[in-house]
Amino acid sequence: MPSAQTAAERIAALRSEIDAHNYRYYVLDEPSVPDAEYDRLFQELRALEAEHPELVTPESPTQRVGGEALAAFGQVRHEVPMLSLGNAFEEQELLDFDRRVREGLDLPAGDLFAEGVSIEYSCEPKLDGLAVSLLYENGHLVRGATRGDGSVGEDITANVRTVRNIPLRLQGEGWPPVLEVRGEIYMTKAGFEALNARQLEAGGKPFANPRNAAAGSLRQLDPRITASRPLELCAYGVGRSDGGLPDTHIGILNALRGWGLPISRELRLARGVGECLDYYRAIGEKRDSLPYEIDGVVFKVNATAQQRELGFRAREPRWAIAHKFPAREEITELLGVEFQVGRTGAITPVARLRPVQVAGVTVSNATLHNMDEVARLGVMIGDTVIVRRAGDVIPQILGVVAERRPADARPVHVPEQCPVCGSDVERTQLVKRGKGRETISEGSIYRCVGRLACQAQLKQAIIHFVSRRAMDIDGLGDKIVEQLVDRGLVNSPADLYALTHEQVLGLEGFAEISTRNLLGAIGASKRPTLARFIYALGIPDVGEETAKLLARALGALARIQEALPEVLTYLPDVGLEVAHEIHSFFQDDHNRQVIRQLLERGIELQGETELHPEFAATATLADLLAKLNIPFIASTGAQRLAARFGSLEAIIAADWLDLRQVERLNEKAARALRDYFDNPEQAAYARAVEAQLRAFGMHWESERKVAAGLPLSGQTWVLTGTLETMTRDEAKARLEALGAKVSGSVSAKTSCVVAGPGAGSKLAKASELGVRVMDEDAFLSALQTFGG
Ligand code: IVH
Repeated sequence: MPSAQTAAERIAALRSEIDAHNYRYYVLDEPSVPDAEYDRLFQELRALEAEHPELVTPESPTQRVGGEALAAFGQVRHEVPMLSLGNAFEEQELLDFDRRVREGLDLPAGDLFAEGVSIEYSCEPKLDGLAVSLLYENGHLVRGATRGDGSVGEDITANVRTVRNIPLRLQGEGWPPVLEVRGEIYMTKAGFEALNARQLEAGGKPFANPRNAAAGSLRQLDPRITASRPLELCAYGVGRSDGGLPDTHIGILNALRGWGLPISRELRLARGVGECLDYYRAIGEKRDSLPYEIDGVVFKVNATAQQRELGFRAREPRWAIAHKFPAREEITELLGVEFQVGRTGAITPVARLRPVQVAGVTVSNATLHNMDEVARLGVMIGDTVIVRRAGDVIPQILGVVAERRPADARPVHVPEQCPVCGSDVERTQLVKRGKGRETISEGSIYRCVGRLACQAQLKQAIIHFVSRRAMDIDGLGDKIVEQLVDRGLVNSPADLYALTHEQVLGLEGFAEISTRNLLGAIGASKRPTLARFIYALGIPDVGEETAKLLARALGALARIQEALPEVLTYLPDVGLEVAHEIHSFFQDDHNRQVIRQLLERGIELQGETELHPEFAATATLADLLAKLNIPFIASTGAQRLAARFGSLEAIIAADWLDLRQVERLNEKAARALRDYFDNPEQAAYARAVEAQLRAFGMHWESERKVAAGLPLSGQTWVLTGTLETMTRDEAKARLEALGAKVSGSVSAKTSCVVAGPGAGSKLAKASELGVRVMDEDAFLSALQTFGG
């Protein structure tokens, strides 16, 4: 803080700067500084306010965190009632509305699009949230209220103050001393997703849609909860005001914007009802890509003088109308749940619904994703459910109408046998590795264990294998695949390459030319790139990107086939679970046979190469140790071990004392490490991983230079007595090359004493202090271990 400036001045300056950034960010949508800078200003303000609590005001941007919880909301009477809107669903209803407006205004009828006759309308999206009233007195936000029944609402002042894009103080000038702003508080789709993810993580119940989430968040008695929710305001009008406002609706909204209130970016002027219809269509097309949910658009007569002339009917203005989009949510009955078997055997519950029209399409099925989702929804067969269909997405079940559950509703059970092949259905397991232990929990996926013996999986596997981004066999559609499988002509992808002319000709709908074309397309697919081939195999969790990565990093099918899981995890974005899927796929006898057959039947992989340097560069010894999943050895411990010992062999050979000397490697970890490598199978496995990494191009030498130190750095050694195979100086030089200091006297800090024949007092001192002692043989083998 510059000394000339007082704390009060600096606080005021920070507040206006933060308010200005908020305005650019929330209202103008043009952030002026990076988030980090904003955060710094905010932190500075918060720190200053902590030092000077007497300078904290309710309007400080730091005060949006929400104060004390209320026992109940107070009531607020709306002096200007909060009205609702009439709806138009069909184009004709909108044309009727426009006709009524023109009649009401005593304008000549005639060509709707003719100049001079048409009415000017403002056009805005109809946001799907909650209506609020915000009262500003002398530019200060003094009250926030819900709509309630339109005449009396609830006082939610404490809550609206936490909404980031609602200005606590108006900016600019010219605002009326009393100004009641009206608008919608809503949640963006992204905010809603994030909130629901958080809810689920915390074991809470997710919200059905952004509207419910916004309503639930705003009607919290504890404003701190509201503050934690991603709410936003969009202002769409004015209630009470005691001063001059512009004489058009759009003019008023622009004035609000100038005073710091966010308005819709989609606000437009339409000249005549024809342009309103254009707007309706344009927004309808944009609906899926808008960051928030809308359920229609709102048209308002733009001139306020005309609005006054038209007035109200019952609780609706005659000068405004909502033109609704087809609803995306409907309710219907869940008739049953069927289980579909996917390519990898995953069994997916699919809801069979009483057919219902949703957004113009008949919906009779909806996905239920998996059994966790079924449990989360608490859905039973016979329930009345809420179905949603948005854009091109598969219809979804959002929830259950609990009150309508019939007495004979039945729970949803996973079949014990695959509905297609009768094989057992197994529940996947999730293996979590924590410190020193492994916990196995039930996964949410059930799988048919039948693999390619299951017709459903076989068909899906073939459909995937021939698809455009995989082997790209033109003209081999799903129906043909079904026939090939049903007739027993194809039992694996390799069988495609053994199909004969007669077999294809015998299929439904095939004649001479189509047969030749299909066989030609199959023949033409025989030279895929390695990446395409790997992708085509349909390894669980291996999409196109992972397939490309495997091909690029390992370069050859043989290497991918033999790669150990730990080695695979060196590839970016390949976690242990995927690595195990890949490894076990290639270990499976049946899969190996199919791959062998594919190669025998003429598949020639293109672009197999020597190892790509990308792989070599990512490997380190510390990673390897961490990946072996030795209890209590995580990345930092692994780094210290790698830095100290420099090679896997040295670590395998290290005894308990050697290990205990590694800085901050505790007893449990040292013991776990010893136990691990004392098991010959594990030691052999670690060596195999290391050997494979070397074979695949990992640079162990560069690793040692990269590592924090040399194997003996930080250690102090003492030489005493005579050495037979080398001179003292030579021994000293070799130790120093490994990073050790060589000293002439023994102390408690000495790491090791090398004692040859004739050693005297130094040896005695070492044994007195418990310092480790080795003879020349042990010394020589240590040097060898450390590569010195
Ligand atoms: S104007 C007198 N404009 O729709 C006019 N309302 O069905 C009153 N809404 O309660 C409302 N977006 O919650 C208006 N751009 C918009 C709107 C909008 C959403 C909601 C509002 C209102 C309801 C009326």
